[in-house]
Amino acid sequence: MQAIIIGFMGSGKTTVGRELSESLNVNNHDLDEIIVNQIGESISSFFKTHSEAEFRKIERQQLQKAMNLEGILSTGGGTPMQNSQIFKATSIPVFLLDAVDETILKRLTKESGRPLVEKLGMDGILQLKAKRQPAYEAISDYIIHTDNKTPQAVSKEIINKL
Ligand code: S3P
Repeated sequence: MQAIIIGFMGSGKTTVGRELSESLNVNNHDLDEIIVNQIGESISSFFKTHSEAEFRKIERQQLQKAMNLEGILSTGGGTPMQNSQIFKATSIPVFLLDAVDETILKRLTKESGRPLVEKLGMDGILQLKAKRQPAYEAISDYIIHTDNKTPQAVSKEIINKL
């Protein structure tokens, strides 16, 4: 693995991961996508048919496996929360994609299908973001601000730090 991308929902992890891996000509791995392939249903439906706790168990197992892959790994917004030791222990650079609340809200209202957005609503989502921020920062090697930047510009910033 050459880089790990973390950040809150709507911070642009998936898009930037794709862009970055194309620019570097390396494999792209998206943890949410890996999990969806494993469980055979959408994350949203899995939260309903099973539970968030079961999702977190699978997320942890898949993260452990994914750490051995080559290329770029973008994670889910909640992945760092119970797995901070895994991120702290690795020598792979961890990039936090950061954005102000306003940007996150704009991006999340455009995209749907996130169980926590449905469950918590926008106020709850912003509270969750604030609560997670210290944990994100604690495991990051670099913080990249993504407000008003294209995925290409963010990807270039990351490449300059690799
Ligand atoms: C989650 C974020 C989602 C997905 C799941 C839980 C979270 O990923 O893993 O819905 O707890 O923040 P994205 O950040 O890619 O939306």
